Amino acid sequence: MSSHGAPIPMTSRACGPLKGEAQVPGDKSISHRSLILGAMCIGETTITGLLEGQDVLDTARAMRAFGAEVTDHGGGRWSVIGVGVGGFAEPDGVIDCGNSGTGVRLIMGAMATSPIAATFSGDASLNGRPMARVTDPLALFGTQAVGRTGGRLPMTVVGAADPVPVRYTVPVPSAQVKSAVLLAGLNAPGQTVVIEAEATRDHTERMLAGFGAEISVVETAEGREIKLTGQPELQAQHIDVPRDPSSAAFPVCAALIVPGSDVLVPGIGLNPTRAGLFTTLREMGADLTYENEREEGGEPVADLRARFSPDMKGIEVPPARAASMIDEYPVLSVVAAFAAGQTVMRGVKELRVKESDRIDAMATGLRANGITVEDGPDWWTVTGAVHGNVAGGAVCASHLDHRIAMSFLILGMAANAPVSVDDGGPIATSFPIFEPLMAKLGAQVSRDTA
Ligand code: S3P
Repeated sequence: MSSHGAPIPMTSRACGPLKGEAQVPGDKSISHRSLILGAMCIGETTITGLLEGQDVLDTARAMRAFGAEVTDHGGGRWSVIGVGVGGFAEPDGVIDCGNSGTGVRLIMGAMATSPIAATFSGDASLNGRPMARVTDPLALFGTQAVGRTGGRLPMTVVGAADPVPVRYTVPVPSAQVKSAVLLAGLNAPGQTVVIEAEATRDHTERMLAGFGAEISVVETAEGREIKLTGQPELQAQHIDVPRDPSSAAFPVCAALIVPGSDVLVPGIGLNPTRAGLFTTLREMGADLTYENEREEGGEPVADLRARFSPDMKGIEVPPARAASMIDEYPVLSVVAAFAAGQTVMRGVKELRVKESDRIDAMATGLRANGITVEDGPDWWTVTGAVHGNVAGGAVCASHLDHRIAMSFLILGMAANAPVSVDDGGPIATSFPIFEPLMAKLGAQVSRDTA
């Protein structure tokens, strides 16, 4: 089922070369954080290029429920008049975060040190995902949470009235957990310290500094140690949201596997905590170049040019790179199906607790399309079809997971027979213009009618 409404079955067929420019939408991670941090300032934060996907729209609605004035000015321009650190009001109703783990976990952190209660819920996918990874560290501040068995939503969080600062080592490589603790630390007196053994996306740290918080990051023997001084007065900002590398991954990977393709994806952030897929593809022998490399808003940015790459080879993806490409393994596995030999992906246990169990969802669908996949608890391998001869022809379950749905539709663009997904509805959570954007490049993706 789609996250909001009836399932939307979709089919993708082999197409001619993909050509042209793909202007992908704003970064999902930065869009959520812009709204949440804007709501924690005094004054008006203005945002351009906000991703208007359902996940982010749900966060915008949540920020209104906590008392911020969030306005959509059209064309990706938004403003947020915040209530200040510790100024959240208690929401009247349930906070519905839809499909978004990032939304719910960051918002829980942001309200956890205010003397209010809030009940959170989501769709069937989100209500099945683990929340203890966030509520355990929040309990150290004095926050209480009661949810369903296994720490699942719906869940009521009661913020700490007298929060204490926390020192916490994140036990799983998760930017959501790190960010929830930092956002909670904003309204605790003194210094909150978060240590992560593996570097995960650092947007929260960068943006907190941009909003005027006192925050420092040092590399220690235990990993990255982030120190945040609580109770700052955050300064409203203008944020120009960069385009999302995780969305860019889809037209880039499609171009690599569809014969004759040449696609330009302009203005993509290459923050090293996000760009692991592109490094991996280049190691596999992809014809993927960075053009017009520059810096925008303190981040490295380039225009990506991807051309059909018939000579790619499978590689062993370094496990240390996993966090920097965690959302891109599903589409990487599709490219791996067209690369010679085996692609080995280890150290990716986190894939099992995303919007779906992404190893299981991809392995099942790839096998149904004639591809050899092996998997274990925290690893999987994909063996490329000889001469890129991928059978296709199967209907794949998307499990309420946007990235699974888009990955199988990319597969269909270069497989011998069409590939279908039972529900493309969740694509709207992160990439609402996926269909017209891919169609403009020459892809043949259609909605199936009963
Ligand atoms: C995100 C962090 C990652 C990622 C998600 C976005 C974020 O999740 O998968 O799509 O914006 O912080 P984890 O923190 O669970 O790894």
